[in-house]
Amino acid sequence: MITYPGYDDVIQRALRHGQRHLFTLWNDCDDSEKKRLLDDIAAVDFDLLSRLYRQAAAPDAAMSMYEPAPYIALPHDAASHAAFSEARDKGVDHIKKGKAAAFVVAGGQGSRLGFDGPKGIFPVGPVTGKSLFQIHAEKILKYAEKYGVSIPWLVMTSQANHEATAEYLKSRGRFGLDEKDVILFAQNMIPSLDTAGKLILESKCSIFKNPDGHGGSLTALASSGALAEVDRRGIDVISYFQVDNPLVNIIDPVFIGFHVTRNANVSSKGLMKAYPEEKIGVFVKFEGGAIGVVEYSDLPVELQNSTDATGRLTYCMGSIAIHLFSVPFIKTITDGSGVSLPFHIARKKIAAYGPDGAAEIDGFKFEKFVFDALPLTDRNIVLEIRREDEFAPVKNKTGVDSLETAQELMVNQHRQWLEKSGVQIPPSAKIIEISPLRAVDAGDITGGITLPDEERIYLE
Ligand code: UD1
Repeated sequence: MITYPGYDDVIQRALRHGQRHLFTLWNDCDDSEKKRLLDDIAAVDFDLLSRLYRQAAAPDAAMSMYEPAPYIALPHDAASHAAFSEARDKGVDHIKKGKAAAFVVAGGQGSRLGFDGPKGIFPVGPVTGKSLFQIHAEKILKYAEKYGVSIPWLVMTSQANHEATAEYLKSRGRFGLDEKDVILFAQNMIPSLDTAGKLILESKCSIFKNPDGHGGSLTALASSGALAEVDRRGIDVISYFQVDNPLVNIIDPVFIGFHVTRNANVSSKGLMKAYPEEKIGVFVKFEGGAIGVVEYSDLPVELQNSTDATGRLTYCMGSIAIHLFSVPFIKTITDGSGVSLPFHIARKKIAAYGPDGAAEIDGFKFEKFVFDALPLTDRNIVLEIRREDEFAPVKNKTGVDSLETAQELMVNQHRQWLEKSGVQIPPSAKIIEISPLRAVDAGDITGGITLPDEERIYLE
């Protein structure tokens, strides 16, 4: 009989839910390992998992009906230029009042890039090799200086990279940001299941869990206390972005201005998809009117390829995972009063531990996607942006969305900023990098700048 002081109800609960196999290696575990397993089991929400397993075993065949989402297009005539300029003024005013915070989801590891560690530490600066984290931090510092306010930076890590991220940011002095303005918290984990609906052992005495997806970021914001902290500081807009995009315009007055004037709960940035198969979600309007995102893998091929009379993709507005969330809205979807984000189910290979040691098995992983928050409100806008201005994801080791393509986009942007500001670019210059501490847009390049006639130029 399996027993452990203070945990007998936990053991009984596991047995009642058909999880006896978790104790197969019980006698090989020492006391602290036994306690770890029991703590793991104590945290399991069996009702949720059995619901998810039923869903995984018999996926809902009902297809959602949708059409392309409306969006605010790039300025193209006098009226739209005026609307953008008005939005900018409103946004600047809002930022100056200290009402915006930056929020990066950085739970991922750099494994796809062949990099061992948190993805945010991956070096991307074309000349300096600055990390993704350094670029984001320096931008935030620059915005804070420009607008004369402090801008808190919320950083969501995962259990796998929390310590390494915290240590890195501390050892680099948070790149000049004040300690009170960098708020780190880890996202939650959820156990995976095998194809028979059983929990999986990861080692002799621990359960296999995976991070609950970037959609878990909203819950983690609330449960970590970070949401209450920004609320206490009078912040009402949280600017959400992914760690892998060094071109992101984190605190964008035009975007914030539209969000505020349209009284939106969620605002999202979109761009024209480059080609039908591009791996970005698309904005849609669901039957009933709510705006949302359909992930690239879920968009049927005929819709993916469908074009309008002008030859443009019908589902042309791609999501780049940049959103503004209003603080009261996040509160309503995280206060436990009912509405919450659904889990997506993925069948994956899982590194399990069995009586014969490590083994790869088939199983189900569960993840939430942040864009599922969009249809939870009808106060929702999509703003079109230019790809070359704001989107350079570093996802793959080579080819599309790789370090090489991202650096090329960064260099092009910085070259354009200099050209726009009338700075003479020397003939030898090939690789140009401008520190975010100097400029976060072309307008920040001022004064008589003379660049050295060198191949690699870094403007501090
Ligand atoms: C994602 C979006 C896609 C969007 C594209 C833009 C999904 C399902 N897809 O694709 O619609 O067009 O980005 O670049 O989101 N993360 C966590 N915790 C997690 C999972 C992810 O913090 O549990 C973070 C990662 O660190 C990363 C970001 O979320 O910053 C994106 O995750 P990733 O798995 O790379 O998404 P993609 O499939 O590339």
